[in-house]
Amino acid sequence: MNVLLIGSGAREHAIARAIDNSQKNSSLHCFASNINPGIADVCSGLILGNINDPKAVVGYAKETSSTLAIIGPENPLASGVADALWDVGIKVVGPKKDLAQVETSKAFTRDLLKEYNIPGGPHYQTFDSMAGVDDFLTELGENYVVKYDGLAGGKGVKVAGDHLQSHNDALAYCMELVDKGGEFVVEEKFIGQEFSLMSFCDGETLKHMPAVQDHKRAYEGDRGPNTGGMGTYSDADHSLPFLKDSDIQEAHTINISTAMALKDKFGEGYKGVLYGGFIATDSGVKLIEYNARFGDPEAMNVLPLLKSDFVDICVHIADGTLKNTDVQFQNKATVCKYAVPEGYPDNPVKGEPINVSSVENSGGLFYASVDIKNGSLVEAGSRTVAVVGIADSIVEAEAIAEKEVSSVSGPLFHRSDIGTESVIQERIDHMNSLR
Ligand code: GLY
Repeated sequence: MNVLLIGSGAREHAIARAIDNSQKNSSLHCFASNINPGIADVCSGLILGNINDPKAVVGYAKETSSTLAIIGPENPLASGVADALWDVGIKVVGPKKDLAQVETSKAFTRDLLKEYNIPGGPHYQTFDSMAGVDDFLTELGENYVVKYDGLAGGKGVKVAGDHLQSHNDALAYCMELVDKGGEFVVEEKFIGQEFSLMSFCDGETLKHMPAVQDHKRAYEGDRGPNTGGMGTYSDADHSLPFLKDSDIQEAHTINISTAMALKDKFGEGYKGVLYGGFIATDSGVKLIEYNARFGDPEAMNVLPLLKSDFVDICVHIADGTLKNTDVQFQNKATVCKYAVPEGYPDNPVKGEPINVSSVENSGGLFYASVDIKNGSLVEAGSRTVAVVGIADSIVEAEAIAEKEVSSVSGPLFHRSDIGTESVIQERIDHMNSLR
């Protein structure tokens, strides 16, 4: 089978490796936005192009006689790449544009949960002007979040107490969004501990992955600007040390209910990875947002643990037969840490050489925003490389990841606190103080 992978970051490197490990006799091609040497290594062909251009992607899919495509990032989903591939008879893992609205429109997702009585939604209102904003912010008091209603690479969400220090700050941000000409959602802010729960979904059946906790802030102690995610961890029991079994069950139920609601609304099922960004609170699990794809870094935690055949799962997703296959993950803990360019995310250095030759386990190294310049591996300006430690406990996995990420040389930094015992204890103490 010829498989086409769309995207070329570390998440896609993890996907490419899972395809390479498959027992299905498949040949992989990649439609990429940068030369990722890790993906190139396991591919029969890699072409650079605009991954958001449906015509260009379909052209390469035909040229490579691909029969199955896997879409990594959200932007191609938003631009209808999945729709265009299905239109020419190519099976796709990654939802069509309408269904991808769970990620591309905050208002859509809030309305969907409300319409179908799915638990976990906040008190919210959607606006396209300033009419009523002041009153609603006053009603929410100190705990509010303002979300731009579109893809903004994590920069469209501003949270009271973090990015917005006062009612006037919030009004000013809302005015900025009105001037931009889009809709925005103002909603209640939840207090608790966040976690990601991703599910494979064929439109009807969902198979859940281990829970993961991401760290979005750039600096140690969860300080500094928001990033795409500096690192993540998962535990051997597929839950997280601060969660109860009922939290995992509630997250599963919300993902299942959302998939059923999407099928009802659009008359066809969501095929891909449904990624719930959840928060455990004193009153149960709430939904912060959905993503319509694997998380990055979360893909690097879960895919290396997959015992089942990834290509087989993808075919079952596309065919709507996921109930006929078993999806199993190893009972191991993982810690993933990103090395990112100095100055990231606001003023990252670019084009500087890095050296990964001291990383001991190349199977735990994932290339992200890198390029090849004059034969050397260089930073391309965003998260650069990720490493994953896998062990029986989070603490052991952290020690592996920390050693590996520290061995990558170049003008880079990483968060040494992710996955450490003291940070995990803080999370547990926080949840205990809330419940
Ligand atoms: N880890 C956050 C994301 O993938 O959006």
